[in-house]
Amino acid sequence: MFLWGTATAAYQIEGAADEDGRGPSVWDVFAHEPGRVRDGHTGDVACDHYHRWPEDVALMAGLGVNAYRFSVSWPRVLPSGAGEVNAKGLDFYERLVDALLEKGVQPVPTLFHWDLPQALEERGGWLSRDTAARFADYAAVVAGRLADRVPLWITLNEPFVHMAYGYAMGVHAPGRALLTGALPAAHHQLLGHGLAVRALRAAGAREVAITNNCTPVRPASTEEPDLRAAEAYDILHNRLFLDPVLLGAYPDLSAYPPGMDCVRDGDLEVIAAPIDALGVNYYNPTRIAAPEAGAGLPFADAGLPDHPTTAFGWPIVPDGLRELLTGLKDRYGAALPPIHITENGCSQEDVLTGDGTVEDEGRIAFLRDHIAAMRRAMAEGVDVRGYFVWSLLDNFEWAEGYHQRFGLVHVDYTTQRRTPKASYRWYAEWVRSQNTDT
Ligand code: FCB
Repeated sequence: MFLWGTATAAYQIEGAADEDGRGPSVWDVFAHEPGRVRDGHTGDVACDHYHRWPEDVALMAGLGVNAYRFSVSWPRVLPSGAGEVNAKGLDFYERLVDALLEKGVQPVPTLFHWDLPQALEERGGWLSRDTAARFADYAAVVAGRLADRVPLWITLNEPFVHMAYGYAMGVHAPGRALLTGALPAAHHQLLGHGLAVRALRAAGAREVAITNNCTPVRPASTEEPDLRAAEAYDILHNRLFLDPVLLGAYPDLSAYPPGMDCVRDGDLEVIAAPIDALGVNYYNPTRIAAPEAGAGLPFADAGLPDHPTTAFGWPIVPDGLRELLTGLKDRYGAALPPIHITENGCSQEDVLTGDGTVEDEGRIAFLRDHIAAMRRAMAEGVDVRGYFVWSLLDNFEWAEGYHQRFGLVHVDYTTQRRTPKASYRWYAEWVRSQNTDT
Protein backbone atom coordinates (compact mmCIF):
# COMPACT_ATOMS: atom_id res chain seq x y z
CA MET A 1 0.00 0.00 0.00
CA PHE A 2 1.44 3.38 -1.03
CA LEU A 3 1.70 5.70 1.98
CA TRP A 4 0.11 9.12 1.52
CA GLY A 5 0.86 11.19 4.57
CA THR A 6 1.86 14.43 6.20
CA ALA A 7 4.89 15.21 8.33
CA THR A 8 5.76 17.28 11.40
CA ALA A 9 8.55 17.40 14.01
CA ALA A 10 8.41 17.56 17.80
CA TYR A 11 10.05 20.91 18.53
CA GLN A 12 8.15 22.56 15.68
CA ILE A 13 4.66 21.67 16.96
CA GLU A 14 4.54 20.26 20.50
CA GLY A 15 5.16 23.22 22.82
CA ALA A 16 4.76 22.18 26.50
CA ALA A 17 8.48 22.70 26.79
CA ASP A 18 8.55 22.46 30.58
CA GLU A 19 5.77 19.99 31.13
CA ASP A 20 5.56 16.48 32.47
CA GLY A 21 9.27 16.15 33.10
CA ARG A 22 10.60 17.12 29.66
CA GLY A 23 14.25 18.23 29.78
CA PRO A 24 15.66 21.12 27.72
CA SER A 25 16.91 20.51 24.19
CA VAL A 26 19.50 22.48 22.26
CA TRP A 27 16.64 24.22 20.46
CA ASP A 28 15.11 25.50 23.73
CA VAL A 29 18.43 27.02 24.70
CA PHE A 30 19.25 28.37 21.23
CA ALA A 31 15.82 29.93 20.62
CA HIS A 32 16.02 31.75 23.94
CA GLU A 33 19.35 33.36 23.05
CA PRO A 34 18.74 36.89 21.72
CA GLY A 35 19.21 37.28 17.99
CA ARG A 36 19.17 33.61 17.09
CA VAL A 37 15.60 33.20 15.83
CA ARG A 38 13.70 35.85 13.86
CA ASP A 39 11.73 38.11 16.21
CA GLY A 40 12.83 36.07 19.22
CA HIS A 41 10.27 33.33 18.54
CA THR A 42 10.65 30.06 20.44
CA GLY A 43 9.01 26.64 20.43
CA ASP A 44 7.80 27.03 24.05
CA VAL A 45 4.17 26.83 22.94
CA ALA A 46 4.38 26.25 19.16
CA CYS A 47 1.10 24.62 18.01
CA ASP A 48 0.42 23.30 21.51
CA HIS A 49 0.18 19.87 19.93
CA TYR A 50 1.17 18.26 23.23
CA HIS A 51 -2.30 19.20 24.49
CA ARG A 52 -4.22 19.43 21.22
CA TRP A 53 -3.07 16.19 19.63
CA PRO A 54 -6.60 14.66 19.57
CA GLU A 55 -7.73 17.57 17.37
CA ASP A 56 -4.68 17.09 15.15
CA VAL A 57 -5.33 13.36 14.80
CA ALA A 58 -8.91 14.22 13.84
CA LEU A 59 -7.56 16.59 11.17
CA MET A 60 -5.55 13.70 9.74
CA ALA A 61 -8.57 11.45 9.78
CA GLY A 62 -10.48 14.15 7.89
CA LEU A 63 -7.68 14.30 5.37
CA GLY A 64 -7.94 10.56 4.82
CA VAL A 65 -4.16 10.02 4.87
CA ASN A 66 -2.93 6.55 5.76
CA ALA A 67 0.38 7.64 7.35
CA TYR A 68 1.79 10.33 9.61
CA ARG A 69 5.47 11.10 10.07
CA PHE A 70 6.20 12.81 13.39
CA SER A 71 9.28 12.98 15.56
CA VAL A 72 9.85 11.83 19.09
CA SER A 73 11.40 14.41 21.40
CA TRP A 74 14.49 12.76 22.90
CA PRO A 75 14.47 15.10 25.96
CA ARG A 76 10.81 14.29 26.61
CA VAL A 77 11.70 10.60 26.87
CA LEU A 78 15.16 10.98 28.45
CA PRO A 79 15.31 14.44 30.05
CA SER A 80 19.08 14.27 30.54
CA GLY A 81 19.71 12.42 27.31
CA ALA A 82 20.56 9.15 29.02
CA GLY A 83 19.72 7.20 32.13
CA GLU A 84 16.38 7.87 33.77
CA VAL A 85 13.36 7.38 31.46
CA ASN A 86 10.51 9.87 31.82
CA ALA A 87 7.44 7.64 31.80
CA LYS A 88 5.11 10.55 30.99
CA GLY A 89 7.10 11.31 27.86
CA LEU A 90 6.80 7.76 26.56
CA ASP A 91 3.12 7.67 27.52
CA PHE A 92 2.47 10.71 25.34
CA TYR A 93 3.84 9.00 22.23
CA GLU A 94 2.02 5.79 23.06
CA ARG A 95 -1.31 7.63 23.28
CA LEU A 96 -0.59 9.35 19.98
CA VAL A 97 0.38 6.09 18.24
CA ASP A 98 -2.71 4.30 19.50
CA ALA A 99 -5.00 7.13 18.45
CA LEU A 100 -3.47 7.16 14.96
CA LEU A 101 -3.85 3.40 14.60
CA GLU A 102 -7.45 3.63 15.65
CA LYS A 103 -8.05 6.00 12.70
CA GLY A 104 -6.19 3.78 10.25
CA VAL A 105 -3.18 6.11 10.10
CA GLN A 106 0.23 4.40 10.21
CA PRO A 107 2.56 6.15 12.65
CA VAL A 108 6.03 6.78 11.16
CA PRO A 109 8.24 8.11 13.96
CA THR A 110 11.57 9.84 13.43
CA LEU A 111 13.83 9.51 16.46
CA PHE A 112 15.98 12.59 15.95
CA HIS A 113 14.71 15.76 14.34
CA TRP A 114 17.44 18.08 15.70
CA ASP A 115 16.30 18.52 19.34
CA LEU A 116 19.28 17.00 21.13
CA PRO A 117 18.97 16.96 24.92
CA GLN A 118 20.96 19.95 26.21
CA ALA A 119 22.70 17.69 28.75
CA LEU A 120 24.32 15.83 25.84
CA GLU A 121 25.24 19.08 24.11
CA GLU A 122 27.12 20.02 27.26
CA ARG A 123 29.14 16.84 26.80
CA GLY A 124 30.07 17.71 23.20
CA GLY A 125 26.85 17.08 21.29
CA TRP A 126 27.35 15.32 17.96
CA LEU A 127 31.03 16.27 18.01
CA SER A 128 31.34 13.60 20.69
CA ARG A 129 31.40 9.92 19.77
CA ASP A 130 29.52 9.11 22.96
CA THR A 131 26.37 10.81 21.61
CA ALA A 132 26.09 8.07 18.97
CA ALA A 133 25.93 5.39 21.68
CA ARG A 134 23.42 7.42 23.71
CA PHE A 135 21.24 7.74 20.59
CA ALA A 136 21.13 3.96 20.21
CA ASP A 137 20.16 3.57 23.88
CA TYR A 138 17.36 6.06 23.40
CA ALA A 139 16.18 4.29 20.22
CA ALA A 140 15.99 1.04 22.22
CA VAL A 141 13.84 2.71 24.89
CA VAL A 142 11.30 4.09 22.42
CA ALA A 143 11.15 0.96 20.28
CA GLY A 144 10.92 -1.17 23.43
CA ARG A 145 7.56 0.45 24.05
CA LEU A 146 6.24 0.89 20.51
CA ALA A 147 7.85 -1.55 18.05
CA ASP A 148 4.90 -3.94 18.35
CA ARG A 149 2.65 -1.27 16.79
CA VAL A 150 5.01 0.77 14.63
CA PRO A 151 6.23 -0.97 11.47
CA LEU A 152 8.55 1.69 9.98
CA TRP A 153 11.10 3.70 11.97
CA ILE A 154 13.25 6.60 10.85
CA THR A 155 16.49 7.17 12.75
CA LEU A 156 17.70 10.67 11.80
CA ASN A 157 16.21 13.62 9.98
CA GLU A 158 18.55 15.38 7.54
CA PRO A 159 21.96 14.88 9.14
CA PHE A 160 23.39 17.16 6.40
CA VAL A 161 21.24 20.13 7.40
CA HIS A 162 21.90 19.52 11.07
CA MET A 163 25.65 19.43 10.48
CA ALA A 164 25.72 22.38 8.07
CA TYR A 165 23.29 24.73 9.81
CA GLY A 166 23.88 23.64 13.40
CA TYR A 167 27.62 22.98 13.47
CA ALA A 168 29.23 24.59 10.40
CA MET A 169 27.33 27.88 10.01
CA GLY A 170 25.70 28.23 13.43
CA VAL A 171 22.31 29.41 12.16
CA HIS A 172 20.49 26.51 13.83
CA ALA A 173 20.99 24.99 17.29
CA PRO A 174 23.46 24.32 18.77
CA GLY A 175 24.77 27.44 17.02
CA ARG A 176 28.33 26.39 16.38
CA ALA A 177 30.16 27.97 13.45
CA LEU A 178 33.00 25.51 12.91
CA LEU A 179 32.95 25.40 9.09
CA THR A 180 34.68 22.20 8.03
CA GLY A 181 35.42 21.50 11.69
CA ALA A 182 31.80 20.32 11.71
CA LEU A 183 32.59 17.09 9.84
CA PRO A 184 32.74 14.93 12.99
CA ALA A 185 29.07 15.84 13.52
CA ALA A 186 28.40 14.04 10.23
CA HIS A 187 30.31 10.93 11.22
CA HIS A 188 28.85 10.70 14.71
CA GLN A 189 25.29 11.14 13.47
CA LEU A 190 25.88 8.39 10.91
CA LEU A 191 27.45 6.16 13.55
CA GLY A 192 24.44 6.87 15.78
CA HIS A 193 22.19 5.86 12.89
CA GLY A 194 24.04 2.55 12.42
CA LEU A 195 23.99 1.73 16.13
CA ALA A 196 20.31 2.66 16.29
CA VAL A 197 19.50 0.33 13.37
CA ARG A 198 20.86 -2.55 15.47
CA ALA A 199 19.05 -1.39 18.60
CA LEU A 200 15.76 -0.96 16.74
CA ARG A 201 15.95 -4.41 15.19
CA ALA A 202 16.83 -5.94 18.55
CA ALA A 203 13.70 -4.29 19.96
CA GLY A 204 11.54 -5.79 17.21
CA ALA A 205 11.34 -2.98 14.64
CA ARG A 206 10.36 -4.47 11.28
CA GLU A 207 11.58 -1.70 8.97
CA VAL A 208 14.20 0.95 9.53
CA ALA A 209 15.09 3.98 7.41
CA ILE A 210 17.11 7.18 7.54
CA THR A 211 15.82 10.47 6.11
CA ASN A 212 18.23 12.64 4.15
CA ASN A 213 17.79 16.04 2.60
CA CYS A 214 18.80 15.42 -1.02
CA THR A 215 19.29 17.92 -3.80
CA PRO A 216 20.07 17.37 -7.46
CA VAL A 217 23.19 19.43 -8.11
CA ARG A 218 23.37 21.34 -11.40
CA PRO A 219 26.71 22.81 -12.50
CA ALA A 220 26.41 26.49 -13.54
CA SER A 221 28.17 25.69 -16.85
CA THR A 222 30.04 22.91 -18.59
CA GLU A 223 33.38 24.60 -17.80
CA GLU A 224 35.78 22.45 -15.81
CA PRO A 225 35.92 24.68 -12.66
CA ASP A 226 32.11 24.72 -12.40
CA LEU A 227 31.94 20.95 -12.90
CA ARG A 228 34.53 20.43 -10.18
CA ALA A 229 32.72 22.76 -7.79
CA ALA A 230 29.41 21.00 -8.45
CA GLU A 231 31.02 17.66 -7.71
CA ALA A 232 32.46 18.98 -4.43
CA TYR A 233 29.03 20.23 -3.38
CA ASP A 234 27.30 17.00 -4.38
CA ILE A 235 29.82 15.12 -2.23
CA LEU A 236 29.14 17.29 0.82
CA HIS A 237 25.35 17.53 0.58
CA ASN A 238 24.37 14.15 -0.83
CA ARG A 239 27.11 11.56 -0.98
CA LEU A 240 28.64 12.17 2.47
CA PHE A 241 25.33 11.00 3.95
CA LEU A 242 24.36 8.31 1.43
CA ASP A 243 27.55 6.53 0.36
CA PRO A 244 28.49 5.28 3.85
CA VAL A 245 24.94 4.05 4.51
CA LEU A 246 24.37 2.42 1.12
CA LEU A 247 27.91 1.54 0.00
CA GLY A 248 29.88 1.34 3.25
CA ALA A 249 32.46 3.97 2.24
CA TYR A 250 32.89 7.73 2.47
CA PRO A 251 33.19 9.63 -0.81
CA ASP A 252 36.44 11.40 -1.73
CA LEU A 253 36.57 14.41 0.60
CA SER A 254 39.89 15.74 -0.70
CA ALA A 255 38.27 19.02 -1.83
CA TYR A 256 37.84 19.80 1.90
CA PRO A 257 40.38 20.22 4.71
CA PRO A 258 40.93 16.96 6.59
CA GLY A 259 38.28 16.54 9.28
CA MET A 260 37.37 12.90 9.54
CA ASP A 261 40.10 11.52 11.76
CA CYS A 262 37.32 10.57 14.18
CA VAL A 263 36.47 7.55 11.96
CA ARG A 264 37.57 4.32 13.64
CA ASP A 265 38.02 0.82 12.29
CA GLY A 266 34.69 -0.94 12.08
CA ASP A 267 32.57 2.24 12.06
CA LEU A 268 31.66 1.95 8.40
CA GLU A 269 30.39 -1.59 8.85
CA VAL A 270 28.09 -0.31 11.59
CA ILE A 271 26.89 2.61 9.44
CA ALA A 272 26.25 0.35 6.43
CA ALA A 273 23.88 -1.96 8.32
CA PRO A 274 21.14 -2.83 5.79
CA ILE A 275 18.11 -0.54 5.84
CA ASP A 276 14.65 -1.21 4.47
CA ALA A 277 13.84 2.19 3.04
CA LEU A 278 15.42 5.56 2.35
CA GLY A 279 13.60 8.72 3.37
CA VAL A 280 14.17 11.57 0.92
CA ASN A 281 13.25 15.17 1.71
CA TYR A 282 13.10 17.28 -1.44
CA TYR A 283 12.68 21.03 -1.63
CA ASN A 284 14.76 22.26 -4.60
CA PRO A 285 17.77 21.61 -6.82
CA THR A 286 21.04 23.48 -6.24
CA ARG A 287 23.03 25.24 -8.98
CA ILE A 288 26.71 25.45 -8.21
CA ALA A 289 29.57 27.49 -9.68
CA ALA A 290 33.30 27.66 -9.02
CA PRO A 291 34.10 29.85 -5.98
CA GLU A 292 35.91 33.19 -6.12
CA ALA A 293 39.65 32.93 -5.63
CA GLY A 294 40.50 32.69 -1.94
CA ALA A 295 36.98 31.62 -0.86
CA GLY A 296 36.92 29.25 2.09
CA LEU A 297 34.80 26.61 0.37
CA PRO A 298 35.35 24.75 -2.93
CA PHE A 299 31.94 25.79 -4.35
CA ALA A 300 29.59 28.78 -4.65
CA ASP A 301 25.80 28.72 -4.77
CA ALA A 302 24.84 30.26 -8.12
CA GLY A 303 21.09 30.23 -7.44
CA LEU A 304 18.32 29.29 -9.88
CA PRO A 305 17.15 32.73 -10.99
CA ASP A 306 14.83 31.55 -13.77
CA HIS A 307 12.34 29.84 -11.50
CA PRO A 308 9.47 31.11 -9.34
CA THR A 309 10.14 30.93 -5.60
CA THR A 310 8.29 30.09 -2.40
CA ALA A 311 7.81 32.65 0.40
CA PHE A 312 11.15 31.38 1.73
CA GLY A 313 12.78 32.31 -1.59
CA TRP A 314 13.38 28.65 -2.48
CA PRO A 315 13.15 27.96 -6.23
CA ILE A 316 10.15 25.91 -7.32
CA VAL A 317 11.42 23.17 -9.66
CA PRO A 318 9.06 20.19 -9.59
CA ASP A 319 10.98 18.20 -12.19
CA GLY A 320 13.99 18.40 -9.87
CA LEU A 321 12.28 15.67 -7.88
CA ARG A 322 12.26 13.35 -10.89
CA GLU A 323 15.84 14.33 -11.65
CA LEU A 324 16.84 13.58 -8.05
CA LEU A 325 15.11 10.20 -7.87
CA THR A 326 16.34 8.89 -11.22
CA GLY A 327 19.81 10.21 -10.33
CA LEU A 328 19.78 8.21 -7.08
CA LYS A 329 18.80 5.10 -8.99
CA ASP A 330 21.56 5.64 -11.55
CA ARG A 331 24.13 6.23 -8.82
CA TYR A 332 23.26 3.48 -6.35
CA GLY A 333 21.55 0.87 -8.53
CA ALA A 334 20.75 -2.29 -6.61
CA ALA A 335 22.09 -0.74 -3.37
CA LEU A 336 19.21 1.78 -3.36
CA PRO A 337 16.36 0.65 -1.09
CA PRO A 338 12.72 1.64 -1.71
CA ILE A 339 12.19 5.36 -1.21
CA HIS A 340 9.70 7.38 0.78
CA ILE A 341 9.45 11.10 0.04
CA THR A 342 9.37 11.98 3.74
CA GLU A 343 9.04 15.74 3.17
CA ASN A 344 7.96 17.96 0.30
CA GLY A 345 6.03 21.19 0.51
CA CYS A 346 6.29 24.97 0.37
CA SER A 347 5.86 28.07 2.48
CA GLN A 348 3.45 30.67 1.16
CA GLU A 349 2.19 34.01 2.31
CA ASP A 350 -1.17 32.60 3.28
CA VAL A 351 -4.03 34.92 4.11
CA LEU A 352 -6.80 33.85 6.44
CA THR A 353 -9.83 35.74 5.18
CA GLY A 354 -12.67 37.09 7.29
CA ASP A 355 -14.87 34.16 6.29
CA GLY A 356 -12.26 31.73 7.60
CA THR A 357 -10.72 30.40 4.39
CA VAL A 358 -7.16 30.24 3.09
CA GLU A 359 -7.06 30.05 -0.70
CA ASP A 360 -3.54 28.70 -1.14
CA GLU A 361 -3.69 27.89 -4.84
CA GLY A 362 0.10 28.16 -5.11
CA ARG A 363 0.56 25.32 -2.61
CA ILE A 364 -1.95 23.15 -4.47
CA ALA A 365 -0.02 23.67 -7.72
CA PHE A 366 3.25 22.95 -5.92
CA LEU A 367 2.02 19.66 -4.49
CA ARG A 368 0.27 18.56 -7.68
CA ASP A 369 3.35 19.24 -9.81
CA HIS A 370 5.74 17.52 -7.40
CA ILE A 371 3.54 14.45 -7.10
CA ALA A 372 3.44 14.32 -10.92
CA ALA A 373 7.25 14.52 -11.04
CA MET A 374 7.51 11.72 -8.48
CA ARG A 375 5.23 9.61 -10.68
CA ARG A 376 7.41 10.26 -13.73
CA ALA A 377 10.36 8.92 -11.73
CA MET A 378 8.31 5.88 -10.75
CA ALA A 379 7.45 5.32 -14.41
CA GLU A 380 11.19 5.41 -15.06
CA GLY A 381 11.64 2.57 -12.59
CA VAL A 382 12.32 4.25 -9.24
CA ASP A 383 10.69 2.33 -6.39
CA VAL A 384 8.83 4.98 -4.37
CA ARG A 385 6.52 3.77 -1.61
CA GLY A 386 5.32 6.90 0.12
CA TYR A 387 4.85 10.68 -0.06
CA PHE A 388 4.51 12.96 2.99
CA VAL A 389 3.53 16.62 2.70
CA TRP A 390 5.54 19.00 4.85
CA SER A 391 3.53 19.92 6.82
CA LEU A 392 0.22 19.03 8.43
CA LEU A 393 0.22 22.32 10.36
CA ASP A 394 1.85 25.71 10.12
CA ASN A 395 4.61 25.52 12.72
CA PHE A 396 7.86 26.82 14.19
CA GLU A 397 10.16 27.04 11.18
CA TRP A 398 13.53 26.99 12.99
CA ALA A 399 15.54 30.22 12.50
CA GLU A 400 12.52 31.81 10.76
CA GLY A 401 10.29 31.34 13.78
CA TYR A 402 6.60 31.43 12.88
CA HIS A 403 7.17 33.48 9.73
CA GLN A 404 7.13 30.66 7.19
CA ARG A 405 3.83 28.82 6.88
CA PHE A 406 4.08 25.33 5.37
CA GLY A 407 0.85 23.77 6.65
CA LEU A 408 -2.15 22.23 4.96
CA VAL A 409 -3.83 23.60 8.07
CA HIS A 410 -3.49 27.23 9.12
CA VAL A 411 -2.67 27.86 12.78
CA ASP A 412 -3.56 31.09 14.54
CA TYR A 413 -0.80 31.22 17.16
CA THR A 414 -2.80 33.50 19.46
CA THR A 415 -5.89 31.34 19.74
CA GLN A 416 -4.38 28.02 18.51
CA ARG A 417 -7.31 27.78 16.18
CA ARG A 418 -6.75 25.37 13.28
CA THR A 419 -8.27 26.21 9.88
CA PRO A 420 -7.90 23.74 7.02
CA LYS A 421 -6.65 25.53 3.90
CA ALA A 422 -7.83 24.92 0.33
CA SER A 423 -4.74 22.69 -0.05
CA TYR A 424 -6.05 20.46 2.76
CA ARG A 425 -9.25 19.90 0.80
CA TRP A 426 -7.27 19.35 -2.40
CA TYR A 427 -4.97 16.77 -0.76
CA ALA A 428 -7.96 14.99 0.82
CA GLU A 429 -9.53 14.69 -2.65
CA TRP A 430 -6.26 13.49 -4.12
CA VAL A 431 -5.74 10.82 -1.47
CA ARG A 432 -9.33 9.66 -1.84
CA SER A 433 -8.94 9.33 -5.63
CA GLN A 434 -5.77 7.28 -5.13
CA ASN A 435 -7.45 4.93 -2.71
CA THR A 436 -10.36 4.33 -5.05
CA ASP A 437 -7.97 3.77 -8.01
CA THR A 438 -6.09 0.97 -6.25
C1 FCB B 1 13.38 20.62 6.44
C2 FCB B 1 13.17 20.20 7.88
C3 FCB B 1 11.77 20.45 8.39
C4 FCB B 1 11.19 21.76 7.88
C5 FCB B 1 11.38 21.90 6.39
C6 FCB B 1 10.80 23.16 5.81
O1 FCB B 1 14.73 20.84 6.20
O2 FCB B 1 13.44 18.82 8.02
O3 FCB B 1 11.81 20.38 9.79
O4 FCB B 1 11.70 22.81 8.59
O5 FCB B 1 12.74 21.80 6.07
